[in-house]
Amino acid sequence: MMTMYELISKKKHGAELSAEEINWFVAGYVSGSIPDYQASAWLMAVCFSSLSDRETADLTMAMARSGDMQKPGLDGFCADKHSTGGVGDKTTLITAPIVAACGVYVPKMSGRGLGHTGGTIDKLESIPGFNTSLSYDDFISVVKKAGFAVAGQTGTLVPADKKLYALRNATATVDSIPLICSSIMSKKLATGADGIVLDVKTGDGAFMKTEEDAEKLAEAMVRVGRLAGRKCSAVLTDMNKPLGKAVGNSLEVIEAIEALKGNAPPDLLEVSLTLAAEMLSLAGKGTHEECLAMAESTLKSGKALECLKYMIELQGGNNRVTEDYSLFMQPKRSKEVFADKDGFISEISCEHTGMISLKLGAGRKTKESEIDPSAGIVFDRTVGDKVKKGDRIAVLYTSSDCDLEEIAEEFGKVITVSSEKPVLNKNIIKIIKGY
Ligand code: URA
Repeated sequence: MMTMYELISKKKHGAELSAEEINWFVAGYVSGSIPDYQASAWLMAVCFSSLSDRETADLTMAMARSGDMQKPGLDGFCADKHSTGGVGDKTTLITAPIVAACGVYVPKMSGRGLGHTGGTIDKLESIPGFNTSLSYDDFISVVKKAGFAVAGQTGTLVPADKKLYALRNATATVDSIPLICSSIMSKKLATGADGIVLDVKTGDGAFMKTEEDAEKLAEAMVRVGRLAGRKCSAVLTDMNKPLGKAVGNSLEVIEAIEALKGNAPPDLLEVSLTLAAEMLSLAGKGTHEECLAMAESTLKSGKALECLKYMIELQGGNNRVTEDYSLFMQPKRSKEVFADKDGFISEISCEHTGMISLKLGAGRKTKESEIDPSAGIVFDRTVGDKVKKGDRIAVLYTSSDCDLEEIAEEFGKVITVSSEKPVLNKNIIKIIKGY
């Protein structure tokens, strides 16, 4: 008979567990027969001893099968994307309608904000009336009509990740590559997409701080996707500064709408189009370059904006927000921030930006906190821009009763102005193809 004590001890000594042992652990933890303290000890052993590729794949599949395995049942290719989490990352709201407008279905299950990073579900809920808790049938019906839909995960999807994620969050066992890989890929595999594009963020605002770790995570996820018979690729993208100019919920939705009208900041445009091109390429629409051109012309044609408007309407939202931004809840207070010297913006600390946005009310301080949809930051300038003392560099917004003066003071430390023009990071670091 297997015991959890044995499994912990084996992993502590770096031994490889069999598929049977991994399945037994996942089933036992979900059913409650394995207690949190033993599961935590095993997770910590994994953090130190890691998992082999085979063990990672077995853990992912065991987690994916712990709940419903969805089959969208659509008459065409289903593409999905997933970001490992960033600041100002509103690419789903741009990429998904572009891909849908090119004739590829995007049934997108998204999450809420985590730590200093934002979540697509919180962003969409800033649209008056928008419903993110659709039944599975309604979700698929929106996908059939608009080409894409975005909803929160249902409770019956990957219960193993729900339990293990909460436990990892409380036991300092989040930042392990095989554990992040199995957490993300189990959810992607359970939603039944034919092709998966992973946006793996790297930099100070990402969970993976170095390119080396981001690449290891990307390769692990692509390998698991391929083993599970899915087309999969990963795009390594920079997260050393916020993506685009807006951080916050309605502020990011507005920036995404503007992007679909042809007014995207260059970094946001490049990342969104690259992800769209990879999704289209997985769907067999052509080479990456051909698909990039297709994504670009679809965006220019206005069809992707029409797609977004239709999706908002089908999910109960007021789609006139795309023309009239005053329909979003308006922030009660704002505070302008100015450059305190001449020079070039050499750094915008991404993690701090996320934390400031959270303090303004755009994120949750505790699991139960209410989000302020109007809160956040809009940057006037970005890394590499020349500024003069007294130029406005950002505006902070909030409707909460936070101490705006104190936050603005703290925000001064987010932006560094130097005399030298900085060398700019590439937005797209690498594409790893697994098909
Ligand atoms: N996102 C997830 O869904 N899981 C992780 O472990 C990390 C980021």
